[in-house]
Amino acid sequence: MTRAGSPPIGVFDSGIGGLTVLRALLAQLPHERFAYLGDTARLPYGTKTGETVVRYCLQAADALLDLDVKCLVVACNTASAVALAAIRERVAPLPVIGVVEPGAEAACVASRSGYIAVMATERTVSGGAYRQAILERRPDARVVSLAAQLLVALAEEGLAEGPIAESIARHYLGALFAGGAECGADRGNDRGGSAPDTVVLGCTHFPMLAAAIRAVVGPHVRIVDSAETAAAAVRSELFRSGLASPDGASAVQFIATDGAERFARVGSRFLGRAIRPGEVQLIDL
Ligand code: DGL
Repeated sequence: MTRAGSPPIGVFDSGIGGLTVLRALLAQLPHERFAYLGDTARLPYGTKTGETVVRYCLQAADALLDLDVKCLVVACNTASAVALAAIRERVAPLPVIGVVEPGAEAACVASRSGYIAVMATERTVSGGAYRQAILERRPDARVVSLAAQLLVALAEEGLAEGPIAESIARHYLGALFAGGAECGADRGNDRGGSAPDTVVLGCTHFPMLAAAIRAVVGPHVRIVDSAETAAAAVRSELFRSGLASPDGASAVQFIATDGAERFARVGSRFLGRAIRPGEVQLIDL
């Protein structure tokens, strides 16, 4: 149930990864209420076809519309990369903010050399949304995209730190940062040369693995987490459109499509505060 007053902000992810975005939203928008929907029954989205991801996203958008949300945050890179236009069309005139454009913007600001590595799910990489968004802002950029799907499972398993996480992070990034031929990288318009100076965490699960990624890329590479920039984009949109809530305490309604106990247990780490299983409402989409 949502309380009377300003309507909630709808936040959507394929599972619990978007809780890293919700964490940033709660910090930047302390007077807002949120309805967070994680489609845990159908995760991962990153290995599904574009058609399926669009269908799932529209069902999730409908469920959040039923809660009278005032805007929608697509806190999933895969959904943002594949389904943003379809979601915007479905919920118009509500504002819809994705995570890819803010992440690309932050990467272009962070990178000095313009050589940028994007780590994301298979679907996000194959659609090329990050490459396109980066090149629109910085046509001279060199973008290398890495489909690092296994990191999603690691984060979901709570194995985001330690030797296993570092070893998998090294599998994806080690050769690129050692200057050799990398594992599974789509180099796109990259022409080789020295290592990237910026790594974009192009999946909302990956901030959980930032320490393991840092251990592989070294201390000088910039690691860009789109959660912070996406939250800033939501904040400016709410103030621009007069939808911001001026006062009142924040609150979150958690909704999942499967596994309230698991959502609460693993999600607590992503959100940075305890979620009780009793707080998680289960729905079918
Ligand atoms: N959270 C999703 C994203 O940001 C990845 C998880 C999945 O594959 O569903 O892309």
